[in-house]
Amino acid sequence: MAAVPLNEASRGEPADPEQPDLEARLVRIREAGLYRRLRTVESLQGPRVKLDGEEVLLLCSNNYLGLAEHPKVRLAAIAAVKEFGTGAGSSRLIAGNMSAHERLERRLAEFHQTESALLFGSGYLANIGAITALAGPGDVVYSDELNHASIVDGCRLSGAAKFVYRHRDIEHLAWALEHAAGRPALIVTDGLFSMDGDRAPLMWLVELARKHGARLMVDEAHAVGTIGPGGRGVAADCGVADEVDVIVGTLGKSLGSYGAYVCGKQELRETLINSARSFIFTTGLPPAAAAAAGAALEILLAEPQRIQRLQSNARVMREALVCEGVRVGASQSQIIPIEVGEAERATAISLRMLEDGVYAQAIRPPTVPDGTSRIRISLMASHGKAQLRAGAKTTAAAVRLILADTDPRMQTAQPRPLPSAAEELDAIEGAEIAIRPHGVRSPAA
Ligand SMILES: Cc1ncc(COP(=O)(O)O)c(C=O)c1O
Repeated sequence: MAAVPLNEASRGEPADPEQPDLEARLVRIREAGLYRRLRTVESLQGPRVKLDGEEVLLLCSNNYLGLAEHPKVRLAAIAAVKEFGTGAGSSRLIAGNMSAHERLERRLAEFHQTESALLFGSGYLANIGAITALAGPGDVVYSDELNHASIVDGCRLSGAAKFVYRHRDIEHLAWALEHAAGRPALIVTDGLFSMDGDRAPLMWLVELARKHGARLMVDEAHAVGTIGPGGRGVAADCGVADEVDVIVGTLGKSLGSYGAYVCGKQELRETLINSARSFIFTTGLPPAAAAAAGAALEILLAEPQRIQRLQSNARVMREALVCEGVRVGASQSQIIPIEVGEAERATAISLRMLEDGVYAQAIRPPTVPDGTSRIRISLMASHGKAQLRAGAKTTAAAVRLILADTDPRMQTAQPRPLPSAAEELDAIEGAEIAIRPHGVRSPAA
């Protein structure tokens, strides 16, 4: 039986028509150190959780503001179940459009100061829906190389030509925009990068989008509730939110629920309702999820000190890790990456930490590029400072132990490999963009 290359298997791309043996595929995934397994949380999702029967300190949840376990949020979900039942019953365009959805959409639009908002089943669905509705064959989508997988998949599904620019590299993007002049363009970026915790250079992106007549789409999944005035995200923090055409946010992170939304002009909402397949062909969000997110949004508005608490927790954790001798990524946010290279190392560190009562998941390819596996620490406003300092000590001890066994230099200097030119310039059929090797400055630079 023919084998499927590992990267295909792990990315969930179309299976080999000859139906490769699944066991063999799993063996190969294990051999590459990329095997994934589920862990079970058996408690509320606070700073300490019961995980597979053991109480541990949780350092990898996106429940950034601690609202998933907030009594008012839980009560709002219960009230919505009583009022509407458990499911929306059908897609929004059939009988599944409920007042709970529309109420939340109005509040989200007010929050982001946009004309409209439209709910989606998840951030994954929002990104693939918005990108495929806004770009198609003949267009070019420009995407940061570290964008979330849902953006990558949206670009692939759209059928548009795709240009992947180097992470936060404005010159690289400008060069590509100039070479594809005249083609309808969509620039898409994470606002706060999910695995690195750094921010997109939005002021520059806005300027480039304006100069080249491109649409700009910013996924604020990790920035809503954590950054910017009132937690409105990176674009609001930079003062350019009104120049971003498409803002995506999720309900599943700071807002403690499940689902996502796209904000922008009314015509964007109508376009998505009419064209976004991941909106049209799926059941509406459960009303309890919408109501819970709505209650969380009210708490976010009423208690902005939660954002300050989260940001101060991020400073404490980063400082504690550095004091313990751990080299952390350059982020300033609640997402703190500790890059350790090969997947096996990250897994070994994560397992060692878990033995010592701290849970931080190892993040490996294809979630991050090869050779950049890491422990991704993410913090919550509900963590106490003492918990964070203790967590930093445990993390540092595990990093020291495993890296001493493998490569003691790993924590001092290891530049991240850039993708190959072929990966960078993918499927630009008909676009007048030439492949340029990495490290060569654009002609305009
Ligand atoms: C930047 C970004 N966008 C979108 C998503 C997907 O959101 P959801 O979990 O709601 O599908 C994630 C998930 O982690 C993300 O990090």
